[in-house]
Amino acid sequence: MRWWDIERVLGLEHVLFPEDAWTAGLFWSELAHARGPGATRRYLVAESRAPGGEEHTLVGYGGLAAVGGTGDIQTIGVLPAHRGTGLAARLMGELLAAADAFGCHEVMLEVRVDNAPAQRLYERFGFTRIGLRRGYYQPGNVDALVMRLETPAPSANSSQGTKTHG
Ligand SMILES: CC(C)(COP(=O)(O)OP(=O)(O)OC[C@H]1O[C@@H](n2cnc3c(N)ncnc32)[C@H](O)[C@@H]1OP(=O)(O)O)[C@@H](O)C(=O)NCCC(=O)NCCS
Repeated sequence: MRWWDIERVLGLEHVLFPEDAWTAGLFWSELAHARGPGATRRYLVAESRAPGGEEHTLVGYGGLAAVGGTGDIQTIGVLPAHRGTGLAARLMGELLAAADAFGCHEVMLEVRVDNAPAQRLYERFGFTRIGLRRGYYQPGNVDALVMRLETPAPSANSSQGTKTHG
C-alpha cells in the first residue's frame, strides 16, 4: 500500500469496518512508518483484474506493525464478493513473513468476539486466544478477543502502537 492507494482503501474501509472505520490521517501516519531503514510497518493491497480487462480494482488490504519485537496485525479485510477464495490467507501469509523480517518473536491481534470468520482465519494460522478486552470496540461495547502467535525469530524493533481492528 502506498499513499496514492489511501483514497481507494478508505472506500473499502467503510464497507469492511462501518462502525469504526479508520481515517485517512491514520492510514497516512501508518504508511509514514512503512518505508526506509527504520520502517516498522508493512501494509499491502490486493487488486483484482477482470479477465481481458485493464482496470485493477482494490479488493482487500492488510497491515502489520512491529513494536519492540512484537508484531501486531493492525487490520485485514477483503470485499465480500472476493471472500472464501483464500485471499485473506494470502494477505496474512505476507504479513507474517513481514513480522519475521522485522525480527518479531510473536504476533498479536484483537478480533471482535462475534467475528467468527476472522477467528477461523487466525486459528488456521496458529493464533491462540490469550485474553479478552471488554468493550474494546465502540460504539456497541463489543469485547475483543486477544490472540497471539509465537514466531521463531528473535526480537528487534520498537515503534508506536495503534488501536487496531485486525
Ligand atoms: C475475515 C476475512 C478477512 C476473511 O477473508 P477471506 O478472504 O474470505 O478469507 P479466506 O478466503 O482466506 O478464508 C475464508 C474461507 O474460505 C476458505 N477457502 C476457500 N478457498 C480457499 C483457498 N483457495 N485457500 C484458502 N482458503 C480457502 C477457507 O478455508 C475459509 O473457510 P472457513 O471460513 O470456513 O474457515 C473477511 O471475512 C473480512 O474481510 N471480513 C470483514 C473485515 C474483518 O472482519 N476483518 C478482520 C478484523 S479482526
